[in-house]
Amino acid sequence: MFFSVLTAALLCVLTVKTRVENVHAQEKLFLSSMGLSSPPKPSAHSPVPSLLWKMFESSDRRDSCVVSEYGVRGNIVRFIQDQGRLISAPTGRCFYCVRKHLFFNMSALEDVEQLSFAQLEIKFKQDLSHLGRHVFGMALYRVLKTTLKGVTHESSRKLLQSQTLGYDALGSVRFNLTELAESWRQPAKNYGMQLELQASHNLLDDDAFDAKGVRAGVPIPEFSASLVAVSLNPHQCRSRRKRSASYYPPVTPSNVCKPRRLYIDFKDVGWQDWIIAPQGYLANYCHGECPFPLSESLNGTNHAILQTLVHSFDPKGTPQPCCVPIKLSPISMLYYDNNDNVVLRHYEDMIVDECGCR
Ligand SMILES: *[C@@H]1O[C@H](CO)[C@@H](O)[C@H](O)[C@H]1NC(C)=O
Ligand SMILES: *[C@@H]1O[C@H](CO)[C@@H](O)[C@H](O)[C@H]1NC(C)=O
Ligand SMILES: *[C@@H]1O[C@H](CO)[C@@H](O)[C@H](O)[C@H]1NC(C)=O
Repeated sequence: MFFSVLTAALLCVLTVKTRVENVHAQEKLFLSSMGLSSPPKPSAHSPVPSLLWKMFESSDRRDSCVVSEYGVRGNIVRFIQDQGRLISAPTGRCFYCVRKHLFFNMSALEDVEQLSFAQLEIKFKQDLSHLGRHVFGMALYRVLKTTLKGVTHESSRKLLQSQTLGYDALGSVRFNLTELAESWRQPAKNYGMQLELQASHNLLDDDAFDAKGVRAGVPIPEFSASLVAVSLNPHQCRSRRKRSASYYPPVTPSNVCKPRRLYIDFKDVGWQDWIIAPQGYLANYCHGECPFPLSESLNGTNHAILQTLVHSFDPKGTPQPCCVPIKLSPISMLYYDNNDNVVLRHYEDMIVDECGCR
């Protein structure tokens, strides 16, 4: 049912048999418009960041080609997971420091997309208030090349930013990485980053040394890193129109061309595993006759008016025009992509608002 609605125009001429045969082709076509080669099979249903939920929930009140949270153009927001590994956990030599490789696979972005904003977020799992008067330094490096021994040589990395964090820091730190993330879209240039957290020396109190003269301190809090990437697919950003308030076609019996009520449940097409929200939506479809004489309310083209006229003389030789969607509106969807990233995306032409004879 779902795919047949997406191709309502074709339906008018397709038989039921070919419709069934085309389901797979239709599914592929729809997925490819989402930049997906196959239905994603998320291995871990990573939690949806609250910011994305908020953006999803307010998406029907906004311009579908602007992400107002960041003040940039875009119709796709991805939460890209960090795939880098820990380089060194606290050891004897550096008891209060952590070094981690950060890697964000940018290949989910299609070539046609324009990256408009990327932001790194380092989120601490504990409240930093436990630090008391202690502070720690945080340094972020861009990795320029890989070396056999790993990236510790200063020549293989470049400092991007360093700062000191104390108990008054918020639960997370953010960096604008738009330029760097753009360069990472070429996989050969993506060596990722290195993050170093280190208990700050000079700011520790004297009593921070224990009896053996070893610097005591507070453990570095656990953290996770993610990259928010906002991009614009200009081909999917035709309308500046707002999403229509859920349109409920009246259920008056009539066999004339008009929108009919159709609720699409993503479970029915087996997509419930990777589509997070909505679980379904009121998509509607167009159905009905385009009889002679074509009245104005049927929104016929001049061509359709002539076609009904010819049909009235020669019903066997010339079919009636088709009842097809002439005005559609977008919806927003939250889903997992093939790399387990959470994606918020606006889709054009998902809800039938008006039908016409064509
Ligand atoms: C990035 O993801 C793509 C699939 O989306 C995969 O083919 C590629 O190997 C990944 N790259 C790395 C370095 O993991
Ligand atoms: C992020 O950085 C880019 C260039 O690196 C800049 O053009 C853009 O204005 C910055 N965005 C924000 C929100 O700071
Ligand atoms: C034709 O368009 C008008 C508005 O332009 C709309 O009110 C009407 O419902 C449309 N007709 C059909 C059959 O959808």
